[in-house]
Amino acid sequence: MSKKDEKSPKHEPMIGIDIGGTGIKGGIVDLKKGKLIGDRFRVPTPQPATPDAVADVVAKVVEELSSRDDAPSPSSPVGVTFPGIIQHGIVLSAANVDKSWLNTDIDALLTKRLGRPVEVINDADAAGLAEARYGAGKGVDGTVMVITLGTGIGSAFIFNGQLVPNAELGHLEIDGFDAESKASAVARERDGLSWEEYSVLLQRYFSHVEFLFSPELFIVGGGISKRADEYLPRLDLRTKIVPAELKNEAGIVGAALEIAVHHNIAK
Ligand code: BGC
Repeated sequence: MSKKDEKSPKHEPMIGIDIGGTGIKGGIVDLKKGKLIGDRFRVPTPQPATPDAVADVVAKVVEELSSRDDAPSPSSPVGVTFPGIIQHGIVLSAANVDKSWLNTDIDALLTKRLGRPVEVINDADAAGLAEARYGAGKGVDGTVMVITLGTGIGSAFIFNGQLVPNAELGHLEIDGFDAESKASAVARERDGLSWEEYSVLLQRYFSHVEFLFSPELFIVGGGISKRADEYLPRLDLRTKIVPAELKNEAGIVGAALEIAVHHNIAK
């Protein structure tokens, strides 16, 4: 090994998979840069999205990624996200997914189906980890909250770069309603709200979270972060609020990062 190699340990690429309500997306992640190597691969989520049907699609996505020249070794672990609470590999909530997931050992299911180690984390937690390491939260000390606006509202609670897992701030009760039922991106479309009307709901939501946690920074993720100019300038908060930087790759990158750290492949 040359001196140069000793100083710069090889960053093995890792596979990350993001399970969503409409698509199951995967990529090979360069963990040094926090970016995908090559294209993202996406397969529509099967309907009904039962555990076995989803596991089959995850296997298909991993197979496609593994056939590429840049693929990591076939036995390397795979990081996966899921849109619900995951504790010790078990799915403990299923707000916007098939209820048959409840109490499924998703780590065990996917590890068996893929024949390689798999660990699953909450989708917003994955996005939060990726943003904190490579994106809008890079180098920010104190509390950073990543809020994803999509089908539901996801949240990641990060303190000094460390994730406090499974914060479910999309389900805060605000004005008598589950917050995500009114203020998610899908609720905006469903209710035909203008950006101005939607901003009123976001103002209510973010002021409440700000009051509860006094974060240093809010990062807004989810597909709607692309339209941040339409609503962020209308919000009046004492906390800085910025759009996510990794866009729709954050979940894939965060899932790969989490499992790499867990397996001592990255720090
Ligand atoms: C779920 C969260 C998830 C979020 C975004 C919510 O309904 O409870 O676990 O992170 O949706 O998918």
